Amino acid sequence: MEIKVTINNEDKILNIEYDEFLSEVLRKYGYLSVKKGCDTGSCGLCTIWIDAKPILSCSTLAIKANGKNITTIEGVQKEATEFAEFLVNEGAEQCGFCSPGFIMTVLAMKRELKNPTKDDIIHYLTGNLCRCTGYVGQLRAILKYMEVV
Ligand code: FES
Repeated sequence: MEIKVTINNEDKILNIEYDEFLSEVLRKYGYLSVKKGCDTGSCGLCTIWIDAKPILSCSTLAIKANGKNITTIEGVQKEATEFAEFLVNEGAEQCGFCSPGFIMTVLAMKRELKNPTKDDIIHYLTGNLCRCTGYVGQLRAILKYMEVV
């Protein structure tokens, strides 16, 4: 079957199977920034946006994206690069495998939360796991990016 979507401001028609998940479809169409970790909705690596809200693409059927706006990290390069500099400055980039999903969550949080506390930030990020850093460097970078410190 076919679905019509907008991906990073480009209209696309995607051929999908009725039971295919969005992460598979996006990777099949070349959006390789969409990573897969657990594939069960537990790690956040596959986070993208649908209609500007973060979702787990490994747990979202592709057909549910029909008619919607999909954003991957390729679609927010300017903001992503800006935030990545904070990560680098805090030594928090490590292996980078979780970075696309992690960054998509942080950018969504920046748009959504006004004047968040440290606890608000930690709560927002509970769905994004990182095996390298222990979150300390990342949290320092986010607090500076969100202008909490
Ligand atoms: Fe989607 Fe882990 S790969 S949440």
